[in-house]
Amino acid sequence: MSIQNILCVGAGYVGGPSMAVIADQCPEITVRVVDINPERVAQWNSDTLPVYEPGLDAIVQRCRGRNLFFESPTPDHVNAADMVFVSVNTPTKSFGHGSGQAADLQYWESTARWLRPHLKRGAIVVEKSTVPVKTAEAIATILHYDRPEQDIAVLSNPEFLAEGTAIRDLEQPDRVLIGHGDSPADQAAAQALADVYAHWVPREQILFSSVWSSELAKLAANALLAQRITSMNTLTALCERTNADISQIADAVGHDKRIGPRFLQAGVGFGGSCFRKDILNLAYLCEQEGLNVEAAYWRSVVLLNDHQTDRFARMIVEKQFNSVAGKRVVIFGFAFKPGTNDTRDAPAIRVCRSLLEERAKLVITDPQALEHARQDLAGLAGGITFEPDPYRAAAGAHAIALVTEWPEFAALDYARIYAGMEKPAFLFDGRNLLDAAALHGLGFNVYPLGRRARTHL
Ligand code: NAD
Ligand code: UGA
Repeated sequence: MSIQNILCVGAGYVGGPSMAVIADQCPEITVRVVDINPERVAQWNSDTLPVYEPGLDAIVQRCRGRNLFFESPTPDHVNAADMVFVSVNTPTKSFGHGSGQAADLQYWESTARWLRPHLKRGAIVVEKSTVPVKTAEAIATILHYDRPEQDIAVLSNPEFLAEGTAIRDLEQPDRVLIGHGDSPADQAAAQALADVYAHWVPREQILFSSVWSSELAKLAANALLAQRITSMNTLTALCERTNADISQIADAVGHDKRIGPRFLQAGVGFGGSCFRKDILNLAYLCEQEGLNVEAAYWRSVVLLNDHQTDRFARMIVEKQFNSVAGKRVVIFGFAFKPGTNDTRDAPAIRVCRSLLEERAKLVITDPQALEHARQDLAGLAGGITFEPDPYRAAAGAHAIALVTEWPEFAALDYARIYAGMEKPAFLFDGRNLLDAAALHGLGFNVYPLGRRARTHL
């Protein structure tokens, strides 16, 4: 089965970059990405893409108009497609049964209902969104309604890219996972998808599994990554009290090959659109199966993550003589991680809310995410300023709270910043990015996470 026309439904953080890479690597395949949000489609066709990812602009410029198109959806798009990726959003449900925990699958279901009458015989539908286990089965039920099952194959192909490194992750994935059914048609569909990836991914890195295992593997991967970060974060408070250094601990345990060095960076807590959502979803699935102890285990990861963010916000208040009312506090970094403009579930939102409740005057600076920050904090009472220039942001400030470890913040002239701040000047490093000893030498009172504070007080 040779794939010539690919359709992707959902032009978001996953759909846009992943389809751009397919178009780039497979010049003989025409890739069309559609989205119900016309503004998003227009942005993908402009010079300012809706997603900031290093390397993405160049690929889109190479392929757009050649074999990559961003458009509003029409039935003709479906009719022409040999393969349809679905990468619509699957947020946490915010209403009804399972509210705050289960995945809201309304976008997925409405996509399936829209696709069904227009899909051609032999079309392959690929589940790219992260979905609860057995979603593919439910989707297949809708797609197969009043037509023979062998007409349409449904595969699971979860995406493991991380934001900020999306292009590298897509071009050199650790693995590609394809979940498929047992029928010959399903197996042929899985091979056809593998053939697309084999344009640039070594065959031995393309893994096959059952559809359910594939869906659960995606939730498990995110849950394990988030749990690992949380385990390190829980050690930071102990380090601060006992003068141990969390970075030295990460280094020591990371040298154990069974543990490995990555994802041991303690900080203000994990953010992003997926970790919280996918863990809550996993916990909900456990609960649905009557596995309450297992559910509580996973839910505790989310509780501890919030606790860590709140602990950082409390530290900012407590160390400044228990009050930030009327004080200018600068937030260095609002994106949920460096290298992206995404602020979904960013720890900075929680930190800012908390400081606003304490009546601080906030100044937010971030190299990419100020527009999203403005939207996230809209309507909150208190003084908030958005300032792209970190030097101007810090002028006259009582304290700096570093929440996102953009490398730009490590390269600033802190002597200049210190000179312009109120004294005593405080610096709270929520990511252990900066050289605490050097900053202390300049006059700052420095509070890293999981390391001893260095103060002049
Ligand atoms: P997103 O919100 O950025 O994009 C989803 C897009 O789908 C939106 O633009 C929305 O308008 C569009 N959409 C919704 N319903 C539609 C419909 N019926 N027809 C056409 N378009 C429709 O979301 P995202 O971050 O790209 O995530 C998509 C999925 O991928 C989620 O399940 C997420 O868990 C998963 N995922 C995300 C990441 C990530 O880094 N963001 C990584 C791996 C997996
Ligand atoms: C994460 C996973 O890494 C991807 O594999 C997955 O595809 C994706 O979720 C998803 O399903 O959406 P992402 O959220 O983009 O990717 O970014 P990460 O690099 O995982 O960072 C998530 C959060 O953890 C960030 O807030 C980051 O600052 C934090 N983090 C990460 C730490 O606090 N310490 C670390 O050591 C690593």
